[in-house]
Amino acid sequence: MKTYKIALLPADGIGPQVIDAALEVLERVSKLSSFGLELTSLPWSCAYYRIHGEMMPQDGIGILSKFDAILLGAVGWPAEVPDSVSLHGLLLPIRKAFSQYVNMRPHRLLPGVEGPLKRSDFDLLCIRENTEGEYSGAGGNVHKGTTDEVAVETSIFTRRGIERILRFGFEQARNRSGRLASVTKSNAQRFSMVLWDEVTRQLADEYGDVSVTSYHVDAIAARMIMAPESLDVIVASNLFGDILTDMGAAIQGGLGFAASANINPDKSVPSMFEPVHGSAPDIAHLGIANPIAAIWSTAMMLDHLGEGDASRKIMTAIEAATAKGIGTAPGRDTTKTITQTIISHID
Ligand code: IPM
Ligand code: MN
Repeated sequence: MKTYKIALLPADGIGPQVIDAALEVLERVSKLSSFGLELTSLPWSCAYYRIHGEMMPQDGIGILSKFDAILLGAVGWPAEVPDSVSLHGLLLPIRKAFSQYVNMRPHRLLPGVEGPLKRSDFDLLCIRENTEGEYSGAGGNVHKGTTDEVAVETSIFTRRGIERILRFGFEQARNRSGRLASVTKSNAQRFSMVLWDEVTRQLADEYGDVSVTSYHVDAIAARMIMAPESLDVIVASNLFGDILTDMGAAIQGGLGFAASANINPDKSVPSMFEPVHGSAPDIAHLGIANPIAAIWSTAMMLDHLGEGDASRKIMTAIEAATAKGIGTAPGRDTTKTITQTIISHID
């Protein structure tokens, strides 16, 4: 029997609650399937930072590299640790260290969920570049703290980085509707984004079966609201993808439904699966966090590990629960109720 070693990073705020929920579902589905689980929970978080002065140990990446996948809850407790410290100490270095250059985020309505657009005819897959671009982390300050202070933050785009994320998008498009949207702002940013457009055109020649449209990010933002059914696979840079996927979450009914996978398609290192919502300090003690985003992310993890049947079992159970109205209205059902309903549909 195949046994998967999964590292759990529940971390902060509602993270532990939604990871507990996801685990209950994962363990139940594994009992009905032919794989085992070896789960290791790591305490790295803002609470850990307060004790150790760092978000994870020095050899944190080395520790994680021994696992088949990572399931992450949410990072951030800004009342005690600035977000710029906590995110740069845990989430972002993991994405970079394992070259999880694909951030895949599905945006569609689950049955029973009525999104703000009052339409259900869209099914988007956002593919966000996840390791370079606007998040490269190249920059610094001079004259710090004075009125002459200067901050420089350089976006780094490499042909290799652009090509591999677009290629992943083309492959996804090929297996879906055959439509791909490539997102830039090449009318204003004439170096990096023009390179992105050029690589898009080169790959379009190679993938003759995929129909490609290049959009500027402002235009596609409007289109996601006005005509989301005209889009399918969307490939965007790190920051553009970050913004568009919060919009994707909004049109699918809210962040409680937005799942994501940080993937390195070369499976020699772990990929990381996490709900898009953050730690939500405002509801952290209420027990009403929607676990669906985390459970959906767990289904994406199983799919990545090659357990497609188990993954589909989870998605079917989520859909059965929401079709009955469970988990579809923010704050109405408890995390426990939603989780138990989903589990009852797995059995
Ligand atoms: C996300 C989040 C992160 C990001 C933050 C918390 C650094 O917003 O996963 O979308 O911008 O990547
Ligand atoms: Mn985001």
